Amino acid sequence: MKEIDLIWDLWSSYKINTPSAGKIQDLLKINKEEYFNDHIAFRTINNPHIGKERIAEIFIKYGWEIRGEYHFQQKKLDAIHLEHTKDINLPKIFISELILEQVSSFARELLSSTFENYDLCDRQKLNIGRKHPVNFTKYQALVKESEYASWLYIFGFQPNHFTIYINNYPELNIESFVNLLLKERISMNTFGGIIKGHEKFGLKQASSMADIKYIKFEDRKKEFAVPSCYVEFAERFNVNGELFSGFITSSADKIFESTKNKK
Ligand code: NI
Repeated sequence: MKEIDLIWDLWSSYKINTPSAGKIQDLLKINKEEYFNDHIAFRTINNPHIGKERIAEIFIKYGWEIRGEYHFQQKKLDAIHLEHTKDINLPKIFISELILEQVSSFARELLSSTFENYDLCDRQKLNIGRKHPVNFTKYQALVKESEYASWLYIFGFQPNHFTIYINNYPELNIESFVNLLLKERISMNTFGGIIKGHEKFGLKQASSMADIKYIKFEDRKKEFAVPSCYVEFAERFNVNGELFSGFITSSADKIFESTKNKK
């Protein structure tokens, strides 16, 4: 399988949980060969058999390598980003993980036991989603403590977001694109302002609010609406004569809020 097929495969399954991604694909007439995607983000926990390095291994086999490390103190996350060594037009991969030693024993035990039998050894597993039943009472307790953890509990392993690379569309900038999305009634994440970051730091980002998915819980008769995945938008700029390729933690911190319930 070629790298581009791997990415397109992930994009196709991501659209199932993220109808707004399909809308945006139509709006921009995105096709497979285009450099439309800045990065793909995954979430996990810092457990040796499913931690961020384990997910990274799959991409390393396809020619990506780790280029950056990040820490989100408040959200109790560590993250890495990977870039492809040969083809700079392939998306970066952003993988974050919840630091279990820093969460409550309830969250730690729930997540460890839930994902105990998951194994992320090959590319098909990047889309494995959730294979366990979910409990509403536990979910609600988890939401209170960590929205990030509650998303992982419900959705398991699949891309959390794709990121439209605005530089690929010379007629657009992130501001004009956001206006286009608002006209299409795509709801935007306004935590910390719609547009995060600044040209002088090399990166401006925005994101939609996550789409909604109805989930069946083992302890509830009716399905319950839960925020699923969102789409991010990134415009990159030169810093000291070079196109900035990293991430800004203070912006990413606000982007994480895109899977927060709007209520
Ligand atoms: Ni992102």
